[in-house]
Amino acid sequence: MGVELKVNLGKRSYPILIVSSCLPQLGRHLAALMPATRVFVVTNEVVGRLYGEQVTRALRDAGFEVLYRELPDGEKYKSLESAGELYTQALEGGLERQSAVVALGGGVIGDLAGFVAATYMRGIPFVQVPTTLLAQVDSSVGGKVAVNHPLGKNMIGCFYQPRLVFADVATLETLPLRELRAGLAEVIKYGVIQDEDFFEFLEENLERILGLDQDVLIEVVRRSCAIKAGIVEKDETERGLRAILNFGHTIGHALEVLTKYQVYRHGEAVAAGMVVAAAIAEEKGLCGQDLTMRLAGILEHARLPIRIPFKAEEIIEVLPRDKKAQGGRPRFVLPVALGQVVIDADVGREVIRSALERCQAKRGERF
Ligand code: NAD
Ligand code: GLY
Repeated sequence: MGVELKVNLGKRSYPILIVSSCLPQLGRHLAALMPATRVFVVTNEVVGRLYGEQVTRALRDAGFEVLYRELPDGEKYKSLESAGELYTQALEGGLERQSAVVALGGGVIGDLAGFVAATYMRGIPFVQVPTTLLAQVDSSVGGKVAVNHPLGKNMIGCFYQPRLVFADVATLETLPLRELRAGLAEVIKYGVIQDEDFFEFLEENLERILGLDQDVLIEVVRRSCAIKAGIVEKDETERGLRAILNFGHTIGHALEVLTKYQVYRHGEAVAAGMVVAAAIAEEKGLCGQDLTMRLAGILEHARLPIRIPFKAEEIIEVLPRDKKAQGGRPRFVLPVALGQVVIDADVGREVIRSALERCQAKRGERF
């Protein structure tokens, strides 16, 4: 069971295979794509315990010599220090320019292992085997790789495309439900920014997604990746269009900063951020209330946060400023209809405040 997509980037084009219960076939697919003899599987302790052996065996059976590393679980290990440890193991294990790095895990492992692949010996091939919904629909596609710096998230990185994305939706069966829901926020985002039919599909199939129906999950990952690939193909290095993928992220980022990244999963903060962005669009007369209501409806149904537990001024204070915008105003991605957004760096303080007040959480509400 599975489908194949392609990200068309000339010489750096690559396939995305979306499958169910096919991890044992990973080695065969990789061998068909590149002549690597040695691969370095990078994962974490949680994912390694679940899938490390299956993946290692699949690669060995296909003739690869496998180096293997499990890092501790957590965002704080997406660091230069972890990268340093991986370089050492790679050098000691004889990883060469023709070898490949295989990232087995969520976005943390994908970003870190991708960064190591991009920089080790000036760049060696790498493969994404994403195991969270967020990684399958977003972080494994498009080539953004990075580690965090104590002064900022994702501050050290580059664009470096994988040679293959191998997304097995059966791995989502072991994913904590909260992580699945957080990934779903990014999926819903794709519907709003580019595809009204997909948004409707999600409204109709939400229960089947949360129930892990494998056919529906394959369709969800396929349509999400197709949208992201289409955007990346037009604007690989985010000079313009690619920024629409940041719908919900301006306010979402402020929520993450105010809570020191300790309260929200990224997708949860983005969910609440998307509702505020829709409310801003409404305030500016760009869209009607029906859009905000439908968006809030599906997010609430997915049990994602749609309200802001901070005063408007607290949020406004920490909004990232767009240096190119007049007066250093924050930049928003705003919906004008389901499936269509605009980038707007001209949203006044009063409009933001008014939208935030409309989305204010009641006292004692979770998030
Ligand atoms: P994550 O990688 O931390 O994974 C979430 C949790 O799920 C972890 O505890 C992990 O161990 C566990 N897990 C992963 N797969 C599992 C499985 N199949 N079964 C059971 N547990 C599993 O988080 P994430 O949400 O996947 O990724 C977040 C990271 O992605 C952030 O660092 C963010 O900056 C990055 N990101 C990158 C991009 C990009 O374009 N490169 C885009 C979005 C986010
Ligand atoms: N996750 C946003 C991007 O890949 O551009």
